[in-house]
Amino acid sequence: MGAENDPSLAIDQALADLRAAFLPRFRGATSEQALRDENAKILGKKGELTAILAMLGKAAPESRKAIGQKVNALKQEVEGGFEGCLEELRAKAREAELSAPPFDLTLPGREPVAAGHKHPISIVREEVIALFRQLGFAVFDGPDVEHESNNFTKLGFPPDHPATDMQDSFWTKSGHLLRTHTSNIQIRAMSSMKPPMAFIAPGTVYRRDDDATHSPMFHQLEAFLIDRNVTLAHLKGVLAEFADRLYGPNTPVRLRPSYFPFVEPGAEVDVACVFCKQTDGSRAGCSTCKHTGWIEILGCGMIHPVVLENCGIDPDQWSGFALGMGLERIAMLRYGIPNIKLMFDNDPRFLAQF
Ligand code: PHE
Repeated sequence: MGAENDPSLAIDQALADLRAAFLPRFRGATSEQALRDENAKILGKKGELTAILAMLGKAAPESRKAIGQKVNALKQEVEGGFEGCLEELRAKAREAELSAPPFDLTLPGREPVAAGHKHPISIVREEVIALFRQLGFAVFDGPDVEHESNNFTKLGFPPDHPATDMQDSFWTKSGHLLRTHTSNIQIRAMSSMKPPMAFIAPGTVYRRDDDATHSPMFHQLEAFLIDRNVTLAHLKGVLAEFADRLYGPNTPVRLRPSYFPFVEPGAEVDVACVFCKQTDGSRAGCSTCKHTGWIEILGCGMIHPVVLENCGIDPDQWSGFALGMGLERIAMLRYGIPNIKLMFDNDPRFLAQF
């Protein structure tokens, strides 16, 4: 093969041209993408350096090794140049970002996200707490896991009393249970403090109950007051005030005799049905009040003298009343919610309505 046909010189020339050209070309790229495109034009499968390498086959066998080394050396230079320029471009971009005018934090968000809000049970609980606080009651707290004596015995439920069946719960072997009502707080308050006292106790309670209007876990709020000469009239006064503030002025209230072991006398309290109330105060009757015009909202009564004694309070000197309500019930009546489960499913379509 004659020297004039040996492409070694042409390859040398092409390598020299490329060596002189690649860096200015890289530097001319103003974006990362332009730089990558330029790099591909040289090192890509159909790139210029690849094309030079393809000429190697035609070179004289004795010069192939040296040319191959030159091609590889240039390839490394090109790669190094590419990395260096890439780094420079990125540094410039970062610099531009940092020196740009500051981001305007006062701009509104692009997609307004609906703000969260309170659950209907929380709304009602806070309202009832505020209402009783205005009447002078303080808030007392207590545990969900309670000893049987505070939940039942000291409240006048003898062991195996049928009333405990109405409030069957979840027991541990040690005589503790998930409290079935917030009336345990009466015992805790009366056993640890001297009268007079006026407390409310909001809390979670548990029963083996499960249907459209009962949930195995629900929320109660208890109120109790002990002082000298407290009578049923005081209880009725508080109930009337409660109904007026919660359902509107002059909401009729009635007490129906009922039985709870820890009160005597005991009553269930009905308010005039808020759903079918007419402008003249009469009620047309509806399915919610089962056409009676009345809706039951809570249980109450005068604290039984034996309960006072169980807590070391002299029933000849002190008397008191207690009342307990289910907050789910209050919320269901307030908002016309047909099924208690809706309040625990946490479906946003339901919750968004409050
Ligand atoms: N603890 C009773 C219940 O859960 C309600 C109640 C409270 C009744 C206070 C009377 C007095 O059913």
